[in-house]
Amino acid sequence: MAHDINFTTSLLSKEQRYTETLQLAQHLLAEENDLIANMANMAALLRQAFGFFWVGFYRMVAGELRLAPFQGTVACTRIALHRGVCGAAVTRQSTLVVPNVDEFEGHIACSSLSKSEIVVPALHRGEVVFVLDVDSDRLREFDDTDRHFLEKLVAMMLAATYQNEEQQK
Ligand code: SME
Repeated sequence: MAHDINFTTSLLSKEQRYTETLQLAQHLLAEENDLIANMANMAALLRQAFGFFWVGFYRMVAGELRLAPFQGTVACTRIALHRGVCGAAVTRQSTLVVPNVDEFEGHIACSSLSKSEIVVPALHRGEVVFVLDVDSDRLREFDDTDRHFLEKLVAMMLAATYQNEEQQK
């Protein structure tokens, strides 16, 4: 089956674009439960749909964040939880929207071109298992619409990964 991304029109609102993107994501996630494979495709899908500067994932491994599949420029590989927007999102267990990364104490600049950022933590059984990190080269790129749909996407990824576990209960 082909997985070409064909949006109905190039004039979609952000909500419409997310809605179509998440429909495509649902198809892809229905076919695969491997988290790394799904991270790779979700990063590609978001990058293709929105042209984000950097989009990717960090996994929680041995108490720190480690770089996982992404699309964009070379990034730092390990992030301690007391550092960066990603570390803060894990510690707070909630999504962080940063309109201007220069104003976020402790922001880690993997690229000087990154201007704003959103980080969505994925929680399974009360623990963060990975984060979705999206960077923009424009200030104030992300808002509640991004938060809403990206949180939904992360929930879909968790469901695809752990669905068998849930069914076995
Ligand atoms: N800016 C992030 C680090 C990861 S990169 O943006 C890819 C942070 O402050 O945690």
